[in-house]
Amino acid sequence: MSENSEFHWGVSTSAFQTEGAIHADGKGASIWDIFSLQQGKIANKHHAIDACDFYRRYNEDLLLMSHMNITNFRFSIAWSRIFPHGIGKINMKGLDHYDRIVDSCLENNINPWITLYHWDLPYHLEEMGGWTNRDITYWFEEYIDAVVRRLKDRVKHWMVLNEPMVFTGAGYFLGIHAPGQKGVTSFLKALHHTAICQAQGIKQIQSLTDQNTEVGTTFSCSMISPFSELEKDVIAARKTDALLNRLFIEPLIGRGYPIKDLPFLSAIEKYFKTNDSNLLQASPDFIGIQNYTREVVKYQWNIPFLKAKVIPANKRNVAYTEMNWEIYPPSLYHVLNKFNEYPEIKKIYVTENGAAFIDEIKDGMILDFQRRDFINDCINQVLLAKKDGIRVDGYFVWSFTDNFEWAEGYKPRFGLVHVDFETQQRIIKESGKWYAKFLQDQKSISQEYSVGISEHV
Ligand code: FCB
Repeated sequence: MSENSEFHWGVSTSAFQTEGAIHADGKGASIWDIFSLQQGKIANKHHAIDACDFYRRYNEDLLLMSHMNITNFRFSIAWSRIFPHGIGKINMKGLDHYDRIVDSCLENNINPWITLYHWDLPYHLEEMGGWTNRDITYWFEEYIDAVVRRLKDRVKHWMVLNEPMVFTGAGYFLGIHAPGQKGVTSFLKALHHTAICQAQGIKQIQSLTDQNTEVGTTFSCSMISPFSELEKDVIAARKTDALLNRLFIEPLIGRGYPIKDLPFLSAIEKYFKTNDSNLLQASPDFIGIQNYTREVVKYQWNIPFLKAKVIPANKRNVAYTEMNWEIYPPSLYHVLNKFNEYPEIKKIYVTENGAAFIDEIKDGMILDFQRRDFINDCINQVLLAKKDGIRVDGYFVWSFTDNFEWAEGYKPRFGLVHVDFETQQRIIKESGKWYAKFLQDQKSISQEYSVGISEHV
C-alpha cells in the first residue's frame, strides 16, 4: 500500500492508568486518586497507587516499545503533576518529568503524541465544582499554556481531551467514574464547559505552535444498531447515536448540540453566555476516533431522557470480550465512514482500538490469539476504509501494556505486553509479537516504495 509512508501506526496509554507514583515529585491528588481509594468504587478493591510503575520505568518501557518497531506513542500528562492544586504555581519537577519522557521517546525513534486531559482532574479543582464550574476554562488554559510552551519544540501531535462523552457521562451523570457526580444538572454544566474547553484548547495550542504541529481531540464512538426495524427502536438508536457519537463533535464544527434528536439538551441554554456559540467552535487539524465495539439499542419507555436501552452483548448471543463488549470489527469501518461524512474534518486517526481477554501464561508465553485476531481484523477494516477513499491516516492499539482499567480495576487486560502487577515484570504477548512483525513489514513496504520513487526521479 503506497500510502503507508504517510500512515502513523502506534500504541496508546494514559497517565493515571499506567504511572503509579501518585505522590512523586510534588504531585497533587487527582479525582481518580481519591475516587479509586473510596470503598466500593473499583472492582476487587483494586487501586492505581503503583499501576504499571511507568513513572519510574519509562526508559525500559520505551526501549521495549522501540524493539517492537513502534514509532508513535500516545500518552497523557497528569495535570496534578504540573499544578498539584490545579492552579497556582507550576511544579517544575512535573514538567521536567514529561520533558525527559519526550526526550526518551525521541532517543528511541518514537514520536510522542500527547493527550492533555485523560480524565485525571486535580482534586482541588473538583472541590470547586470541577467541570461543572465555568472557571475551568481559565484553569485549563493555564495548564495547557505551561505544558505546550515547554514541550512544543519536540511534540508535534496534541490532543486536548480524551473521550469527553465518557468522562462527562460516567463521571458527572452516572457517577460510576470519578468524581462520582450524578444527575442531569451536573452533566449539562460539565458538558457545556468541556465543549468550550475542547474548542478553546485547540485554538490555544494552534496559536502557540508552528505549522508542522497537528492539534486535535479524541472521541469515543460506536456503531449503533437498532434492535429491530420497528420505528420505536430506530428512533431509540438515533437518540443513542446523537448522545454517544455526535454530542461533542457537532458543536466543535459549528453545528451546535444535537438538540433536535435530544430535546432534553435544550436546558443547556441556561448555561450559555452571549458569545458561547463561537466559543464552542474550532478547526482541529485532526480528530482521533476510539472504537471498541458496536451497541444494539432498543426502545425502553422508562429510561429518562432517551427512552432507549443498550442491550448488553452477553444477552445477545454474540461473541464478546472481558468488558462484555461485542466482538465486531466492522464497527470500526462504520464509524470511520460516519465521521468521514463531516466535511469540516480534515484528518482522522484511530487513536484507540483493542480488546480485553483473559491471558494465560504458559512456559513464559502468552498466546493471546483472540486479541491478535481482533487487532488484525480491525486493522483490515481500517485498510479497507482507506482503500474505499475514507480519510484515515493512523491507527493506535489500546494499549501498550496491561493497565488499570478504571472502575474495572486490573482484571480486563488490554496490553500487547503483559504486566505482572506484583513484580512489574513485562512479557510481550503473541499479539505484541504479531504487531511488531506487522510494523516491520510496513516499514519494509514503505522503504521499497520510496526506493521505487527515487529510481523514477
Ligand atoms: C477508553 C479509554 C481508555 C481505556 C479504553 C479501554 O474508553 O479512553 O482509557 O480505558 O477505553
